[in-house]
Amino acid sequence: MKILVFTEKPFAPAAAKAISEAIVASGNEVALVEKGNREDLMKAVADADGLIVRSDIIDKEVMDNAPKLKVIVRAGAGYDNIDLAAATEHNICVMNTPGQNSNAVAELVFGMTVMMVRNLYAGTSGTELKGKSLGIYAFGQVGRNVARIAKGFDMTVTALDVFVPDEAIEAEGVKPLHDVKELFSQNEFVSLHIPATPQTKKSIGYELAMLMPKGAVLINTARKEVIDEEGLMKAMDERADIRYVSDIKPDAAADFEAKFPGRVFFTPKKMGAQTAEANFNAGIAAAEQSIAFLKDGWNKFQVNK
Ligand code: 3PG
Repeated sequence: MKILVFTEKPFAPAAAKAISEAIVASGNEVALVEKGNREDLMKAVADADGLIVRSDIIDKEVMDNAPKLKVIVRAGAGYDNIDLAAATEHNICVMNTPGQNSNAVAELVFGMTVMMVRNLYAGTSGTELKGKSLGIYAFGQVGRNVARIAKGFDMTVTALDVFVPDEAIEAEGVKPLHDVKELFSQNEFVSLHIPATPQTKKSIGYELAMLMPKGAVLINTARKEVIDEEGLMKAMDERADIRYVSDIKPDAAADFEAKFPGRVFFTPKKMGAQTAEANFNAGIAAAEQSIAFLKDGWNKFQVNK
C-alpha cells in the first residue's frame, strides 16, 4: 500500500529519511512530497492508502480526491488542520502522535520568554525569570514539559486544566487553579497550551489580558486562533507594560509590530516542533502508526471516534 508523506514545512532530512525507510521496510510504498502546495497534494493523494502530514490542511476536498485513503496521521499534537467530520464520513481513521514533539515546544516557550524579558537582546537591561510566577493554560504533554523546565528557572508554577484532576497537576509539583481569571490575574507569565476549538477560538482577549499583573508576558505556542487579536491589541494599547510572544505570526502581525515595537515577537512560521528530535520522534511515530493501522487496524490514538 502507498503511504504519502506530505509536508509543506519539511521534516529534518534525517527524519524524512528514517520515515521513508520505516515505510519501505514494512513492505509499503512511500511517496515523499516536501514543500508541496495544494495542487501537489491533490495529485499525490489520489492513489494513497495512508497520509502523514503536519499542519497541512486536509479538508473534504482532499478526501474526495483520495478514494483509497484509510488513515491520516498528523505527525504532531494539534489536529485542527484536519476535517474530522469529513474523515469519519469517508471512513478514514485520523490519529495524532501525542507527546512526540512536546519537549521541543516547551523549550521554545522559554526561548521566546527569555528573549522578551531581555528586551529582544537589544542591549538594554532586562529582567530574570527566577522567582516569577508562571501560569500554564492546559496541562497536557506540552504544559507538563513547560512546568518541568520552569522549575529549573525557579519559577512558581500554577496550571489550569478542567480535564486534568488536581492530584495529577499536584503530582508534578504544580498548584492547580480552577478559574481562568485567576490564572491571568495571579501570573506575570501565562503560557497557552489549549487546542483551537470552537470554544477556545478568540477566547483570550481584552478582559483576560487586562487582569495580568504589571510587566506581564503572554506566551502563545498553541494556535493563533485562540487569541482575540483586536481585544489583545486594545489591552496592549491601554497597558504599555503588557508584552506578547507568539509562535507564528498573528493575522494582525503588522499592526502589532507597528504599534508595539519591542513588546511583541512572532516567529515567521510555526517553529515549536521544528527540531531534529521532534521531527524524528513525531515522524517515526506517524510512520509506525500508519503502518500498524494499514496492517491490522491499530488505532490507539484515533481522534475522530
Ligand atoms: C503540533 O500541533 O504538533 C505543533 O503545533 C507542531 O506543528 P507542526 O508540525 O506544523 O510544526
